[in-house]
Amino acid sequence: MDYKEILKKYDQEHILKYMDMMDEEQKANCIKQIETIDFEQLKNLYALSKKSNEEIVESLIIEHMEFTDKYKLTEEQYDEIKKLGEDVIKAGKYAVITTAGGQGTRLGHTGPKGTFLVDIKPEPEYLFQIILDTIKRANKKYGVTITWYIMTSTENDQVTRDFFEEHNYFDYPKDKIVFFVQDNMPLLNEDGKVMINKKFEIKEASDGNGCIYKALKKNGLLDKMKQEGTEWIFVGSVDNVLVHMVDPLLVGLTIKENNLIGSKSIIKSGPHERVGVFCKKNSKPGIIEYSEMPEEMAEETDEEGELVFADSNIVCHLYNIKAMEQLADVKLPYHSAHKKADFMQLDGEMFKATEPNAYKYEAFIFDGFSYFDDMSVLRVKREEEFAPIKNKEGNDSPETAIALYNKFWNLD
Ligand code: UD1
Repeated sequence: MDYKEILKKYDQEHILKYMDMMDEEQKANCIKQIETIDFEQLKNLYALSKKSNEEIVESLIIEHMEFTDKYKLTEEQYDEIKKLGEDVIKAGKYAVITTAGGQGTRLGHTGPKGTFLVDIKPEPEYLFQIILDTIKRANKKYGVTITWYIMTSTENDQVTRDFFEEHNYFDYPKDKIVFFVQDNMPLLNEDGKVMINKKFEIKEASDGNGCIYKALKKNGLLDKMKQEGTEWIFVGSVDNVLVHMVDPLLVGLTIKENNLIGSKSIIKSGPHERVGVFCKKNSKPGIIEYSEMPEEMAEETDEEGELVFADSNIVCHLYNIKAMEQLADVKLPYHSAHKKADFMQLDGEMFKATEPNAYKYEAFIFDGFSYFDDMSVLRVKREEEFAPIKNKEGNDSPETAIALYNKFWNLD
């Protein structure tokens, strides 16, 4: 279909008016964008955006999910699963990924979140560097050089690569740090129309950490992993200064339980902490995100007064390569979020949004769990594994994360 027909079919003909303002190159780029956008999918997503996320969750059968408490393992169990995991790592069958395609808007840091300098002791380090420290420690312990994959977005890919180049890859072998870019999704305004940005492009944003699976495949990285004999892949977020990128216990537990996926949980600090919680949805393993959790469910307690949905997601996921391959071919659902988005108006002036005026679509990495009958969940201690930097101040800020980091490493 010709681009004009596409625009007509999907009621997006306002773009033609913008085209009158574009130079030849901008116009050619815009046409290319129109041809690659899946407008049919966008139309369906827009229809769903009007339904509240809570309504969607309420239509599911939600049940408690089993977990294994690290601190309730017997010495024998602990040693057995640790050995299973260590054997995988020592054999060079383990790789790690950091999802670094997010915007980090809440923190207010300009640039990729991993380039945020954290004032830890003994010396300040960048988030990326703190993550790499954990990989280096494991390399030394197990006599390997683990490959570190970093998922970026079109917005921050080049800056991220330049950052590593400028810092000489923090003395890690350059070929063992592999960058790959995730895809984008267009934003829609309240009327379901695509928007134009200041560069005269259709406004897009990264499509959520759930797009990791297809991005790995698209970039040929699942093939690379298979060629290199990688069997287990850990995925962690960019903002947790206590992330353990290499934990034999998680690997060992997942193997012992005969699962293809695993993850770690901590106990939720209170009903309204901004974390997703593990649960079974329609009898499949999954997580309900904090932004979609109905109030009643978040506050539900058992007879002892404990939260019923208490096992929180700290984005420490583990996959067998077979699970990654399976998920690369799956179309995960998109979740919509109502956000503020600046855009170009038809008079050529930029509109600065002060209220949410657009729908953003994101896939969530943990929606992949539901394609499996079961998964392993290892409950760990918050003070040992979770110190995220999300906000400029207050909860989950550099200040709280630094205090937790220094305490864990006995540096205070
Ligand atoms: C995330 C989890 C939430 C968990 C919390 C713990 C998801 C969807 N939500 O929420 O359940 O309890 O962390 O801190 O995982 N990212 C990308 N590309 C994107 C969007 C995000 O790579 O398009 C990356 C971010 O850079 C980050 C990670 O995914 O490393 C989590 O994203 P973020 O937006 O920080 O998620 P939260 O809302 O904090």
